[in-house]
Order: sequence, then C-alpha cells, then structure tokens
Amino acid sequence: MLKRMKLAIVGVGKLGLALLEGVIRQEVLAPQEIGIMGRTQSKVQAIAERTGTQALPPGDLQGAERVLICLKPQMFQDAAAWLAQPDTGYISTMAGVKLSTLSRHLHTERVVRAMPNLAATLGLSQTAIASPQQAESGGDVSMARQLFAAVGQTYDLPESLFDVFTGMSASGPGYAAIIAESLADGAVRMGMPRALAQELAARVLLSSGQLLLQREHPGLLKDEVSSPGGTTIAGLEVLETSGIRGIMMSTVVAATQRSQELGRLQE
Ligand SMILES: NC(=O)c1ccc[n+]([C@@H]2O[C@H](COP(=O)([O-])OP(=O)(O)OC[C@H]3O[C@@H](n4cnc5c(N)ncnc54)[C@H](OP(=O)(O)O)[C@@H]3O)[C@@H](O)[C@H]2O)c1
Repeated sequence: MLKRMKLAIVGVGKLGLALLEGVIRQEVLAPQEIGIMGRTQSKVQAIAERTGTQALPPGDLQGAERVLICLKPQMFQDAAAWLAQPDTGYISTMAGVKLSTLSRHLHTERVVRAMPNLAATLGLSQTAIASPQQAESGGDVSMARQLFAAVGQTYDLPESLFDVFTGMSASGPGYAAIIAESLADGAVRMGMPRALAQELAARVLLSSGQLLLQREHPGLLKDEVSSPGGTTIAGLEVLETSGIRGIMMSTVVAATQRSQELGRLQE
C-alpha cells in the first residue's frame, strides 16, 4: 500500500532529476513526500535510495496529490491512460504539449504547463509557467512556482507566449554556445591557447549577463564599455556592418516558428 504523496515525478531523466534534486535541496518538499517513476526500474531504485524518495511501480500513481510529468512529449499520449487519476493536479514540462491537450487526455482542468531549460541542473533555469483558471484555485500553480523556483527564476506567462519563450530563452543556451565558440576562435586566431580562450569566452557571457541584469537597457552597457576611438567600438563596427542584430532577431523568429510547428504536431 502506497503512502499519500505530495508529488509524484514521472520521468527522472535530465530534467526530472534536476528538479527532484532542487526541490529536496531547497526543502520545498521532504524526500518522503515525493514518489518517483521511470522506465528503467534499477535506475529509479538507485535514485530513490540515494535521495530518500519512494520508488513507484511503473504506471501506478495511486495516492499522488500532484504529478510532475517529465516524459518526452511523444510518450505522453500512450501514458495518458495511466497518468489520468481522479482528484490529481498535473504539472507538465513536455515541450509543445498545450494546456488544452493536457486537459483533454488527463480529463481535468487542473493542469499547469512549465517550460524550464537545461540550466535547471545548475539552479539557473528561467521557467515559464501557464495554467487555466482552475489549476490556480487548486493550488497547483503555486506548487509549480515553488518547484521551479527551486531550480531558478519563474515567470507566469500566457500560454500564447510559450513559443517565443522557447525560441529565445529555452533555446538561448545554444545561441550563447555559438557566440562563445566564435569569440574563442577569434582569440585562438590571434594566438591565445584554446582552453584559455574558451574559459574566458564563457566568463564574458556569464559576467555580461550579470551586468545586463543591473541595467535598464542593453545599450547602456554597450555605451559604458565603448571608449571614444577604443577597441570595443572598433569591434562593434564589424558586428554592425555584418548585420548581427537582424541575424539574432531572425534566429529567434525561426526558433519560435519551429516551436509553433512542433506544437501543432502534439495536438
Ligand atoms: N532537458 C531540458 O533541459 C528540458 C527543458 C525544457 C523542457 N524539457 C522537457 O522535459 C521533458 C523531459 O526531458 P529530459 O531532457 O529530462 O528527457 P530524458 O532525459 O530523456 O528523460 C525522460 C525520462 O522519461 C523516462 N520514461 C520513459 N518512458 C517512461 C514511462 N513509460 N514511465 C516513466 N518514465 C518513463 C525515461 O526513462 P529511461 O531513462 O529509463 O529511458 C527518462 O528518464 C521533455 O518533455 C522535454 O521536452 C526538457
């Protein structure tokens, strides 16, 4: 007989595990209040033993007050039959699976959709959260905010902004990686050892993000570091003549449109 659980996490892969560890580390829930379920039972058992959580038998969610779904989107429709339980709230992280699709397959309005990113593993995710009205009244949204605050910053957003959130913020680490790699290539081209160049490029992005968060507009930081006749303004001229702004804008537009397309496939 299973104990009453505050939360069952279905899928303890990269994201499910990062959330589980964040929630325990930040003491949002006690380990014994959490059940975990996965496909590979030996892996689930090992995680349960290490974290002090309950390992749940596959497909059995009896006694869970809320379910955090961290399955791949393409697994959802097959899993919906056993995921759907009476008097249960659902928080889904599945990219592209809309609130209306969750409600239809889980037979409840108590659904919350969240879009975190891989920085959850460092406690630095930006997570968008959306829900219909009824989830709010059941306390599911406030639970979702607490869960995702354990792995970073949360933003309540209308679902209509999820695709652009995905195209800019969730896909952002990929764009940052390209910028870091090309900065490092430039430094290597001018004679800097590769490992040092890569570390410096990553630290430039990290510290610039912190500086940007302290200013009202990105242009202010650009102006502060651009001395008249100096090095930064010489570099910026190359970026401007190459059309970097249009390229970055089109990057976000393309990723947003792809997210919209993928979302239509999950309906
Ligand atoms: N990773 C991210 O940064 C990120 C960001 C935003 C959104 N998301 C969304 O989060 C979800 C999970 O992503 P992920 O990166 O964590 O994927 P993942 O690492 O592949 O994890 C998926 C997990 O689901 C488990 N699973 C498969 N079938 C199952 C079943 N029938 N019952 C229970 N568990 C089952 C898998 O178990 P096995 O390991 O045993 O196969 C695996 O551990 C996806 O929908 C993704 O769109 C992820």
